[in-house]
Amino acid sequence: MLIAPSLLSCDFSRFGEEIKRMDEAGADYMHLDVMDGHFVPNITFGAPVMKYVRSFSDKVFDVHLMISEPLKYIDDFCDAGADIITFHIESDSDAVKTIEKIKSRNVKAGLVIKPKTPAQSVFPYLDMIDMVLVMTVEPGFGGQSFMADMLPKAEALKAEINKRNLDVIIEADGGIGEKNIADCAKAGVDVAVAGTAVFKADDPKKAIALLKEKCK
Ligand code: DX5
Ligand code: ZN
Repeated sequence: MLIAPSLLSCDFSRFGEEIKRMDEAGADYMHLDVMDGHFVPNITFGAPVMKYVRSFSDKVFDVHLMISEPLKYIDDFCDAGADIITFHIESDSDAVKTIEKIKSRNVKAGLVIKPKTPAQSVFPYLDMIDMVLVMTVEPGFGGQSFMADMLPKAEALKAEINKRNLDVIIEADGGIGEKNIADCAKAGVDVAVAGTAVFKADDPKKAIALLKEKCK
């Protein structure tokens, strides 16, 4: 299991140092939650801020766009140093055009599904993308409770990906911690996003190691 700390739970007055701290604690990806106050009822940061913190770690920048019109901003996030960009299938942008735009910049592309969206909604795009992100909370805020009933969606995606022999990884996001990460692993999740579980821990390095250990 790869661990992607969600920087949404960091001390934003020290954004760069927090990324460095996660890098040193053993994070595999840096999960960056971009919210526009329109697609979700919360606002975080955009590409200009991301550009400033890019130099604090060489790890994968996994950018989760919770915005209404992702297609408009793909170039900005690619210029700012994104390695993976995921956007919501429920957004207003055309999915194929947005995927093609991301791929044209040599950045990995992924689709995100909210809790009420079925796994099958991304099946038509699986051969074009690198990742599917299954939300295990309603997007918008950190610190919410994990929705275990989302795991069958990860299982269905894994089965479809394997059946079609595709190279697509599954990420889960929201409420993940030591009590449920093993269930995520069993359901086929490859990357677990963890905000609260890592940032509220006394020792993030131990927290990340424990999350990985639980999946063995
Ligand atoms: C929610 C975000 C998540 C969230 C994870 O909209 O996409 O990345 O912040 O934080 P925790 O682990 O606290 O649920
Ligand atoms: Zn996220």
